[in-house]
Amino acid sequence: MQLAPLRIGPVTLARPVVLAPMAGVTNLPFRLLAKEQGVGLVCSETLSARGIVEGGEKTHKMASRTHEEGPMAAQIFGCDPEILAEAASLLEAKGIDILDINFGCPVSKFVRSFAGAVLMREPDKIRRIVTAVRSRIRIPLTVKMRSGWDAASINAPEIAHIAEDCGADAISIHPRTRAQAYTGRADWRVTAEVVRRVRIPVIGNGDITSPEKALQLLEETGCAGVMIGRGALGNPWIFSQVRDFLEKGSYDPAGPPPGERRALMLRHLDALIDFTGNEVAAVRVMRKHFAWYTKGLPGGALFRDAINQIETRAEVVEIIEKFFDRLHVGRAAWGPS
Ligand SMILES: Cc1cc2nc3c(=O)[nH]c(=O)nc-3n(C[C@H](O)[C@H](O)[C@H](O)COP(=O)(O)O)c2cc1C
Repeated sequence: MQLAPLRIGPVTLARPVVLAPMAGVTNLPFRLLAKEQGVGLVCSETLSARGIVEGGEKTHKMASRTHEEGPMAAQIFGCDPEILAEAASLLEAKGIDILDINFGCPVSKFVRSFAGAVLMREPDKIRRIVTAVRSRIRIPLTVKMRSGWDAASINAPEIAHIAEDCGADAISIHPRTRAQAYTGRADWRVTAEVVRRVRIPVIGNGDITSPEKALQLLEETGCAGVMIGRGALGNPWIFSQVRDFLEKGSYDPAGPPPGERRALMLRHLDALIDFTGNEVAAVRVMRKHFAWYTKGLPGGALFRDAINQIETRAEVVEIIEKFFDRLHVGRAAWGPS
């Protein structure tokens, strides 16, 4: 398939495949792994605009980037147009390439503070936010949204149109309602409607778990790019598979051999220890990644029980080595000898 380049304002992506922002996941180490696999654009975890403005060290660290990762978007959340605009301007000064605003987060903590998907109920507020942020930055501005608040109020096409009118350069859409959270299926028909409603590029998101689904989303909706979230958990290889499928028409469905998987798990751990500067904290965060990396492998459940009990790098390495050595000789990968 001949893919048109995805242009977001003046930024042209090498390929129209985007890593979705995921809180607690898409920190610098994870973004670099996705980049190695050929993703076109990465995005930070969602960052509190207020935290950025107030100079919170943790929030600023979450926004840190390296030029190795190529184009990087930072996503902010909040509800006060002025604070969002100030945060956007501070992030632009830090060197991010694209600024994204979160109008999609369904979690109650966000809803209570009038941020994320709750803003889909307030088109005027969205207009004020996008206008204020646009007026303060020169880099491209994107917004990420859901299909609406609930099944009775699907308004993504209207919100996308407002965002475009106020100067957004692209839209990404996860077509579930806030009420759905992550249940049911993403309704790609809403994505197709958004594509019809705006002239700026639309990046389709939701339930892409294979290269075939990525192609299907592009073909069914006419969207300009695809964004992958959960499909990349424990599976950054999905980006090279999607790249190969879209560019060459075929890919290796087996994914990486066990040795490569083992090496990447350890590299991910070491990069996170480096990034956090705290071995125990990094090991704890990596537990969920190790669970994702070993999902479906023989002995994976016992491996995960074991890994959840330990806190040092040395212990993790020992357990991972043992797990993969057993995989290699074709025995239950973890468990009683
Ligand atoms: C662990 C996790 C954290 C997420 N954090 C964010 C976030 O910070 N900002 C955001 O806009 N969406 C967030 N999302 C939603 C994803 O970006 C994406 O829209 C959603 O998972 C649907 O895409 P998928 O089916 O490819 O996972 C998160 C999703 C997950 C699973």
